Amino acid sequence: MPSLDHAITKAVQILRDGGLVGFPTETVYGVGADVGNDRAVQQIYHVKRRPTGHPLIVHLAGASAITRYAQDIPAAAWQLAEVFWPGPMTLVLKAAAHTSRVATGGQDTVGLRVPSHPLAQALLGVFGGGIAAPSANRFGQLSPTRAEHVREELGGDIDFILDGGSCEVGLESTIVDLSGDQVHILRPGGVTRAQIEAVLGKPTGNASRNAPRVPGSHASHYAPRTPLTVLPRQQLLQHLLSPEATTARYAIVSLDLPPPCFDGARWKVMASTYHDYGKQLFATLRELDKLQCEQILVELPPSTPEWAAVHDRLARAAARGQ
Ligand code: TXA
Ligand code: MG
Repeated sequence: MPSLDHAITKAVQILRDGGLVGFPTETVYGVGADVGNDRAVQQIYHVKRRPTGHPLIVHLAGASAITRYAQDIPAAAWQLAEVFWPGPMTLVLKAAAHTSRVATGGQDTVGLRVPSHPLAQALLGVFGGGIAAPSANRFGQLSPTRAEHVREELGGDIDFILDGGSCEVGLESTIVDLSGDQVHILRPGGVTRAQIEAVLGKPTGNASRNAPRVPGSHASHYAPRTPLTVLPRQQLLQHLLSPEATTARYAIVSLDLPPPCFDGARWKVMASTYHDYGKQLFATLRELDKLQCEQILVELPPSTPEWAAVHDRLARAAARGQ
């Protein structure tokens, strides 16, 4: 097992040579390339099978690097960066003239984020430039929260994977669009709307029709292959008591119901806080997806605002095929 320093040195060399590196962040694992190397960035789209119009996030070592990739930066961006970086928040800003339009999917805005995971910090610090990185999964699939997820899904197609254990947040970053006159949240995530509004001192909007394209906003993004339904406890119980429940092969994601007569592998009892639930969600769905059940039934989580990112990812997972 090479030392961490050795692993970082190797990863940096691969990036400098135009290769692709899987690396941990506190949200999910990313697959990164040198944002200054258009060919390397193009390779990310190819490996992910992601349409090239869908922009990538540029990861930075610190907030001061914003000015290298963005222009006309509003005061609100600095305020949010000050409070939430390093951390699970992406800022969409007007792109600087020289910022790679391959990374921005051809748009004149750029998504920037300073991750807090120590390995991501070390990688960015030693590399010294921006790393363009989407989540390290094939387009439309669940984001990886462990190195082995990346290995399973992209292992043969990328040059190296830095293993940083399980991701602390487990859901992708909150995306805040500051490129227009109004502040919009394009994707809920680890930083909540209330936290953002508390810093800005004003309400924020949701993604509007005019907002930049966000692939995560495709209804079926983050879907497992097994059809998934989210339903309140009462309906979940009715489903399980129905005659077909004996033959249908359900996998269950419950809040705190213990497994009745189901085999344990198909019945997951989730953590009770939104933080821990979010951390477990993608790994749990990945695991259940492998069991080849007919359906994954998910008990509807609480509806208080801090659960917004969990509801968002569950709704997308449920929308598959619709
Ligand atoms: O937590 C995260 O954000 C993870 C880690 C690896 O940083 N990354 C991630 O990347 O989730 P990805 O590509 O799977 O999702 C990034 C989202 C996409 O929905 C993309 O459209 C949006 O960020 N995005 C990036 N640049 C944008 C831009 N200029 N305008 C609007 N949306 C943008
Ligand atoms: Mg993604």
